[in-house]
Amino acid sequence: MPKSYMVGNWKMNQTLSEIEDFFSKLKLTSNQNNFWIAPQAVHISTCINLAMKAGVLIGAQNCSANEFGAYTGESAIDSLTELGCHFSIIGHSERRSLYGESNEDINKKVLACIKKGLVPILCIGETLSQRENGETKDVVLFQLEQGLKDVELNNESELIIAYEPVWAIGTGKSASSAQAEEVHQQIRRLLNDKFGATGDEISILYGGSVKPTNVEELLSMPNVNGGLVGGASLKADSFVALCNACSK
Ligand code: PGA
Repeated sequence: MPKSYMVGNWKMNQTLSEIEDFFSKLKLTSNQNNFWIAPQAVHISTCINLAMKAGVLIGAQNCSANEFGAYTGESAIDSLTELGCHFSIIGHSERRSLYGESNEDINKKVLACIKKGLVPILCIGETLSQRENGETKDVVLFQLEQGLKDVELNNESELIIAYEPVWAIGTGKSASSAQAEEVHQQIRRLLNDKFGATGDEISILYGGSVKPTNVEELLSMPNVNGGLVGGASLKADSFVALCNACSK
């Protein structure tokens, strides 16, 4: 059985006082190092200190595929791991659409993360028009294949996949559990073709308007192994509810 994760993607949100308030209220009952948060890069150090007591692991929302060098505005994987980051979200739809990240860029980041021991959460997902045109499977599996080009794994914990339909992100309109499971099964098949038995153990998260009211239904699907959550991860009580659902 793949491990279940609840991952908060804070995007470009949270002030320092909101972060302190969040961690002071965070009381998690069960934890197997599977509750993760990705704050803004400038808040990573602060969050690592505060999250340690709460048992939450911290990661980045993005990283550079390059070694140290002249790359203004970027974060090196070595610097992120030196701080104590555990993972990085890679290829989020906002990075693809707002910052022009290509499948090739994303593949380089995935390869660099795995090489350096930072767990990549590779995000893939179709737009509304792609879904309406019946292209969901082709789009999602193409992004997955390209993102995983030349990737080799020693074990399943080195990689996480997040299926995030673009039309469900930040819209309040989640995919139904059946829609999510259908795509997760297609992802699972490709992971199995590529990685054999290890592919059956890789966690596939669902993201897009996950909240305490729909999380249990989504997580009841056999191939939905957790959530990547934006809006509903910003408040402690809501994040705790999501983590509790993930522990059941
Ligand atoms: P949302 O965002 O939960 O606010 O829809 C999810 C994401 O972008 O990862």
